[in-house]
Amino acid sequence: MILTVEPLDAGLTGEITPPGDKSISHRALIFSTLAAGRSELSGVLESEDTQATLKACEQLGAVIARSCGRICIEGTGGDLQQPFAGTLDMGNSGTAMRLLAGVLSGQDFDSTLSGDESLNRRPMRRIVEPLRLMGAHIQSSGRGTAPLTILASGGLQGIEYESPVASAQIKSCVLLAGLYASGVTRVREPRLSRDHTERMLPLFGVDLPAPCCVTGGSRLKAAVFDVPGDISSAVFPLAAAALSPGSEILLKRVGLNATRKGFLDCLQEMGADLQVVSRSDQGAEPAGDIRLVFNGILRGIDVPESRIAAMIDELPLLMALAATANGTTRIRGAAELRVKESDRLAVMAAGLRKLGVELKEYQDGIDIKGGNISGGRVESAGDHRCAMSFAVLGLVASAEVQIEGAQFIATSYPGFCDDMHRLGANMNRGEPA
Ligand code: S3P
Repeated sequence: MILTVEPLDAGLTGEITPPGDKSISHRALIFSTLAAGRSELSGVLESEDTQATLKACEQLGAVIARSCGRICIEGTGGDLQQPFAGTLDMGNSGTAMRLLAGVLSGQDFDSTLSGDESLNRRPMRRIVEPLRLMGAHIQSSGRGTAPLTILASGGLQGIEYESPVASAQIKSCVLLAGLYASGVTRVREPRLSRDHTERMLPLFGVDLPAPCCVTGGSRLKAAVFDVPGDISSAVFPLAAAALSPGSEILLKRVGLNATRKGFLDCLQEMGADLQVVSRSDQGAEPAGDIRLVFNGILRGIDVPESRIAAMIDELPLLMALAATANGTTRIRGAAELRVKESDRLAVMAAGLRKLGVELKEYQDGIDIKGGNISGGRVESAGDHRCAMSFAVLGLVASAEVQIEGAQFIATSYPGFCDDMHRLGANMNRGEPA
């Protein structure tokens, strides 16, 4: 699908409630499946990624019903059932694959986790290695990628794991395996990655004896949980308004977890007038409404490396903003971008160059010189966040911008174009001629 974005002739205005947080939705579905009793979830993201998790949870024995916008899950109490034919399809979702690999490593049946072409290219050694240290038997491809075949567990041992990467997927995978291991499992990481697993496990009845630490044999109990809006989706309309003269928008019930807020800090440093106007914390997760009023051209910044983990999914969008800012924006310490749904440094660099942007790509980052954006056709490379980042930039280009592979937006934000229309943008979906 091609998305054609027309340059705006007036500012964006109005209110949006962004879709449910993807990371939190995956965890709410998986934890409810492991729990004893009936969990009630509201605000869960309905997208292709969370659909893959929901389907896997059903295959593992959860009984899932929907009523009045809620998802009710009768959990397994931890006694998962072997999926039919043993294979679970995780689609495009790295979170689903890595978290479920941790869970499945502790089960007494064989299973296989596979995904689409992009997911089956992504690095899985980062979870296979710690799981093997715990005693799991896992087969992967020679390149350390999925499909992953996880053999019936002969018993896992708890570990102290020093993760080489700040990754919530690695951390959560090891902690979930730790629930099925003997003794205590603890994960340390070079910088704090998103901490939803640590915040949510206690709500599901699992007390963490120390930060990032679980005791083997802990059982989950059903919970009532309201998923806040996804800051990683909310940032697209926010950024669009920050670029477009005359804009004033309000984003409702957005998750404001400190481990996810790096992009908002950057946007403020770039000069945007952004305020949290009311708080509405939801369970263990902080949330609130954000107002943004356009107040002039943004300025380029040096993104502190210490902030990268807290904005890892927002870096493609920051690159799009940087392309319009006064001065140069520098991003370093972001080599993880090369192993996301696409090589996000390469995909953004290629698309930005096509739109006339001056930049220099590094192995772990990029320098982008702000200036005028020309029209043109760019490639999403199968990556939802790159597609939406180019769409935002198209609003301030000198001519229309076309994005190929825009169907991938449904991975995380199926209502993106509708929300942007509601604010006054003109984005049209069509098939390639
Ligand atoms: C996620 C963690 C991040 C992020 C991904 C979702 C999660 O990945 O990029 O979109 O839900 O745990 P890493 O933990 O691998 O950095």
